[in-house]
Amino acid sequence: MNQEIVQKIQNLKKEKNAVILAHNYQIPEVQDIANYHGDSLGLSIEASKTNADKIVFCGVHFMAETAAILCPDKTVIMPDPNAGCPMADMITAKALKELKAQNPNAKVVCYVNSTAEIKAESDICCTSANAVRVCQSLDCKEIIFVPDKYLGHYASTIVTDKKFILWEGYCPTHVMILPQHIKEAKEKYPKAAVMVHPECRPETIAEADQVLSTGGMEKFAGESDSREFIVATEIGMVYRLQKDNPNKKFYPATKLAVCPNMKKINLEKILWCLQDNKGKIIIPQVIAQKAKSAIEKMIVI
Ligand code: 13P
Ligand code: SF4
Repeated sequence: MNQEIVQKIQNLKKEKNAVILAHNYQIPEVQDIANYHGDSLGLSIEASKTNADKIVFCGVHFMAETAAILCPDKTVIMPDPNAGCPMADMITAKALKELKAQNPNAKVVCYVNSTAEIKAESDICCTSANAVRVCQSLDCKEIIFVPDKYLGHYASTIVTDKKFILWEGYCPTHVMILPQHIKEAKEKYPKAAVMVHPECRPETIAEADQVLSTGGMEKFAGESDSREFIVATEIGMVYRLQKDNPNKKFYPATKLAVCPNMKKINLEKILWCLQDNKGKIIIPQVIAQKAKSAIEKMIVI
């Protein structure tokens, strides 16, 4: 049955000149059918480089939205437009405008895990891969960092010459990963290198050998001399790493770290959206233009 669906998707992809992009947290069969896989920024950059007319974005809403902002001439579709990111929804543009009014000298850095409206209200965007560099690059004494308090806190421990005003947002999946999980995994696999995503709690980050985005984890796992790794991020990453590095071993810090939104996409939904042309991402032009400027400033860095 799967093989039949896979074949139908491949035929439609050719017929419609479409590409499939999949985030590293997608279920294995979705990762396997994708033309490209990667972290949130890597996928958007891939989207902007493709010659395809249609981009099927297998990830959560803010990722497809970012791709649509960067590629206004292409059609970006989501197999399940209900796949949102709870963290991105933890702040509204109204609340951010109020915070800016209270802190008029601060620059606003928004994590890419945010809506287009939030990006449009920000000076610059960042990802988990470049948050520190983006904050270091700013000529200001105060930074309003939204919406992830943990990524913002992590950046503030390195960028010590600026005051950080953190929004109280967080990822419900990454907060499930506790320091105790890593300590137990270290006891079981003492030779393993510990990779932790910066969306984790500070106490969990304190257990890390490397603090990395999912793209950073792919790179580090491939290049490192270590043969074993403890992976503290969403569980889908372990499939990605194991597939790319069959001679190394990857252990999830905990199997509790599942992002239910990332798991909403499956092969059937990919087929349906290609057949019916449904799920197109549409962003009002004024918002898209302002949001694009915040994303492009980050890309320059
Ligand atoms: P990456 O950009 O590291 O892939 O992270 C995206 C994300 O949503 C992590 O929860
Ligand atoms: Fe959002 Fe967390 Fe899911 Fe990433 S893992 S998409 S931050 S809810």
